[in-house]
Amino acid sequence: MADDLKILVVDDEPIVIRSCMAVLKAEGYNIEGTLSGKDAILKMEQNPYDLVFTDLKMPEVDGITLIRWIKQKRPDTGIVIITGYPSQDTIKDALELGIIDYVPKPFTPAVLLDVTQRAVEWVRGKAPVGKEVKEEFPPSMIQEIDRVIKQYKGKPGSSIPVLQRCQVIVGYLPPVVQKRIAKGLNLSPAEIHSIVTFYSFFTMKPRGDHNIRICLGTACYVKRVEEVLNKIKEALKIGVGEVTENKKFSLETVRCLGACGLAPVMVIDDETYGAMNPKKVPEILEQFA
Ligand code: FES
Repeated sequence: MADDLKILVVDDEPIVIRSCMAVLKAEGYNIEGTLSGKDAILKMEQNPYDLVFTDLKMPEVDGITLIRWIKQKRPDTGIVIITGYPSQDTIKDALELGIIDYVPKPFTPAVLLDVTQRAVEWVRGKAPVGKEVKEEFPPSMIQEIDRVIKQYKGKPGSSIPVLQRCQVIVGYLPPVVQKRIAKGLNLSPAEIHSIVTFYSFFTMKPRGDHNIRICLGTACYVKRVEEVLNKIKEALKIGVGEVTENKKFSLETVRCLGACGLAPVMVIDDETYGAMNPKKVPEILEQFA
């Protein structure tokens, strides 16, 4: 639930603001909206917000300009971009500025809630990010992480290969590991975090022997993928981002698996299951027992 976090949505399309308000207010979030980057700055000058969702293409003050302003004047505010089909350069700019995540347009309520939940966790957890890597992982693992960082340090475009290799070493990329990588590569923790959340092959949580991914994208959502998700949660007794007690399964949600024609879609490891419905769930899970 949402408590006292303040969220500002900035988008020149009123329908986007209305949709965000409807979905997030119903979940108890304290949310306001504005139609321009200029007005967003005026609002933020008066009041700090914990989280800002911003469109990238807006007249006068566009999203990237707004993000730069926030990073300079309100660096504690978490930023999520709401985007249609941005260019690679725009996404690269936004990632380098340290956004937390993105919501693709058009979005479903499930995707918006999923991204919001993770962004809220990030905003809440980022101040005291926690223990040092040493306290959580064996020294040999830390040495390996440091060796990878050293190998890539100072080389352009090093963040993705370093993250990939560290994910192989640790199995996932928790905040303490992200912080160590950021420090080692002279990057901000926000920049590293935004890369981890942007690319679906990175994970911040440990995975089970079999990783289940459920698509919450529009095509799957309208074909009631949530019923499939609920059935899996019930069958495995875990929530999204969790691993079963026997470490056999982990459960994730994603925004589109690129198989919309088969909606609703679920993927276990590399196997795609199309036209899913809750009745198929037990039989499919049984194959992995
Ligand atoms: S929306 Fe589910 S696969 Fe594309």
